[in-house]
Amino acid sequence: MLVDSFGRVATDLRVSLTDKCNLRCTYCMPPEGLDWLPKPELLTADEICRLVAIGVERLGITEIRYTGGEPLLRRELVEIVARTAALRPRPQLSITSNGIGLTRLAGPLAEAGLDRVNVSLDTLDREAFARLTNRDRLPDVLDGLAAADAAGLRPVKVNSVLMRDVNDHDAVRLLRYCLDHGYELRFIEQMPLDAQHGWRRENMVTADEILATLSAEFTLTPDDPGRRGSAPAEVFLVDGGPAKVGVIGSVTRPFCGACDRVRLTADGQIRNCLFATDESDLRAALRSGASDDEIARRWVAAVRGKRAGHGIDDPSFLQPSRPMSAIGG
Ligand code: GTP
Ligand code: 5AD
Ligand code: SF4
Repeated sequence: MLVDSFGRVATDLRVSLTDKCNLRCTYCMPPEGLDWLPKPELLTADEICRLVAIGVERLGITEIRYTGGEPLLRRELVEIVARTAALRPRPQLSITSNGIGLTRLAGPLAEAGLDRVNVSLDTLDREAFARLTNRDRLPDVLDGLAAADAAGLRPVKVNSVLMRDVNDHDAVRLLRYCLDHGYELRFIEQMPLDAQHGWRRENMVTADEILATLSAEFTLTPDDPGRRGSAPAEVFLVDGGPAKVGVIGSVTRPFCGACDRVRLTADGQIRNCLFATDESDLRAALRSGASDDEIARRWVAAVRGKRAGHGIDDPSFLQPSRPMSAIGG
């Protein structure tokens, strides 16, 4: 088991398959992109599958989420999903994607054993989308969402990071759209994980503000339970239900106390927290011929040292050196 010194058990493994992305969301990376990881530093599909198997078969991992950057850009994604779906006990399998490419891949992914997909969509206004992501791809994302739904990758969840004067005017429209299409929308507080280090607390749209905006148009009542176990989202029934909306208040309503996550970066580093300041190098272990036992031991040690929380409010808080796109959301 992967237990930390506070008694939290990591059962949810988030695997970043690439740090590359075909969008340039301003809260994530600059328009020119970043210095991508060199190919030899990326784990191969075989290396990823070996580590995931160790996590599932020896360390109690029950859920796997493939992330990026943009995971659909990883050519072996369908193969990796199929290989992990064959593990026993079979883990829950999901991806977090920007949706571009799902029209082509949703069917093959569902067939390979993918259970669910979360798609990032911050606005329905095509111009605002192009400004926010530096790419005019809104129609591709909406088509991708529909393809995921049609392929049965349900519930399809939509993630919206709200930013003041950029897309916060679109919150009500986003919720109406998701309710109409049967997608589960979650609004997310922006965290200090952008490559440009431009995050300012006073610019962040808070969970309280999001709920106030939505409450002007809808009646929201806390779902029971409001937050399921370690899930980041607090869930509310919309107009009495069964429709729902979630709010992920990572900064003002942190959920670190119940965290069950551990992360593997595309270059084979274990991070015990989004905001971890150190990493454990499983790629070096793999490539120097370490046994599964030895790798499992290193992994256990890496989780043991997990901090109590993200510490964004601490005066000594330092943003991690890797941006969100290189950690996996
Ligand atoms: P579901 O199981 O589908 O609810 O997934 P999820 O919400 O855990 O995953 P997703 O990848 O869709 O992440 C949604 C948002 O949750 C991200 O944008 C982050 O803002 C936040 N989040 C995910 N993992 C963590 C975490 O470990 N710590 C914090 N603070 N926030 C996280
Ligand atoms: N703060 C909060 N969420 C973020 N995401 C990307 N960057 C940030 C950030 N700085 C979201 C994406 C995606 C999920 C993995 O994380 O919108 O939905
Ligand atoms: Fe890409 Fe996701 Fe970052 Fe946007 S948030 S640039 S979709 S990795």
